[in-house]
Amino acid sequence: MKNICSVFENCGGCTTLNHEYEETIKIKEEKIRTILEENKIEYDVFNEIIASPEFYGYRNKMEYTFGNEIKDGPLTLGMKGRKRKYDVFYTKDCKIVSDDFNKIVEYTCEFFRKLNISFRNYRRGDGYLRHLSVRRGINTGEILVNIGTHKTNEYDEIIKEWSQGIMKLEVSEKIVSVLHSKTDSKSNVMKADELTVLYGNEYFNDKIFDLSFKISPFSFFQTNTKGAELLYKKVLDYLDEGNVAYDLFSGTGTIGLLMSRKVKKVYSVEIVEEAVKAAEFNAAQNSVQNIEFICGDVKDELPKITENPDFVVFDPPRAGLHKNIIKFLKEQKYENIIYVSCNPVSFAENMKELSDSYRLKEITPVDMFPFNDHTETVAYLVKK
Ligand SMILES: C[S@@+](CC[C@H](N)C(=O)[O-])C[C@H]1O[C@@H](n2cnc3c(N)ncnc32)[C@H](O)[C@@H]1O
Repeated sequence: MKNICSVFENCGGCTTLNHEYEETIKIKEEKIRTILEENKIEYDVFNEIIASPEFYGYRNKMEYTFGNEIKDGPLTLGMKGRKRKYDVFYTKDCKIVSDDFNKIVEYTCEFFRKLNISFRNYRRGDGYLRHLSVRRGINTGEILVNIGTHKTNEYDEIIKEWSQGIMKLEVSEKIVSVLHSKTDSKSNVMKADELTVLYGNEYFNDKIFDLSFKISPFSFFQTNTKGAELLYKKVLDYLDEGNVAYDLFSGTGTIGLLMSRKVKKVYSVEIVEEAVKAAEFNAAQNSVQNIEFICGDVKDELPKITENPDFVVFDPPRAGLHKNIIKFLKEQKYENIIYVSCNPVSFAENMKELSDSYRLKEITPVDMFPFNDHTETVAYLVKK
């Protein structure tokens, strides 16, 4: 049997761990080819999928839920079920994270089991324990642990005791931050109406190539750092020396900061204020001055940028590009567009809409999510 974990049959954390890795990426590549074919998308070159440099233990972030596997069963901490969406499977031997993550999960689950502390029931609106987020700087070895609970002070002393135990765990990397996020939100999404630092910093650091990034507990950062480096390299390969580049849907500024080395000026647009602040900090800490961060919606901000670009990079969320952006791109006819997509379906739709104005020169799938169904693609478009 392949290297599967104890809850693989039911856990929603991954789907194809019982297959050879090489086989899984071929299937992904085929899936993208099929979607393009079905949508009659023409292209010049379709490159072989770029494999993830690591396929076990690759994830730099996991967000676990407190719950139970069966009704009235013991407390568990892990991932929701693939089909049983309300049940939580105890992922203490997960293969797509490092052993340190598994140690943190097991310690945390056993700690609260012994004390018989309740987990959140969102239908009834009661219970204390909500989530546990663990993040890791793959290139720095820094770990951030963030526990999410309901907003009450009742168990503050117990949470302190838990955090002292976390600090004593024998992990192979370094825990630099232990946080407590409290919320009274009705939804099952991890957030912090109140954030308490129990140990260390409110953030951790990672590197992409030689650039340093400070990552706050809720900031977006690609979950597979080594895979992201290959993805970003593919994007950078399309850039010649140029005057101006746009980094649209820029998150914490990774692509823009990397592009700033090659062009004279970069404009980055991102809607989440916290991410823009982090991006500005990242620019300063890497002494990058030729980048301007704009906080807003790409569909509103893109038409306002007056300096014409040599290269435009889009890295939108799963929904793809808004119809107003498509309309603008057809009018504008940019010379070079690099489209990073995390959803082949919306990507194909956008390509269909743009096909009379742009030629799809090259497309390269990149496996950023080993043993999972998701695939990333990098596409290079030029004006017709
Ligand atoms: C797939 S992530 C890309 C992040 C970044 N390029 C990276 O590699 O780390 C998409 C980003 O788009 C942002 N976003 C979503 N909708 C947006 C919009 N309408 N305008 C601007 N940014 C948006 C999200 O907050 C998120 O940071």
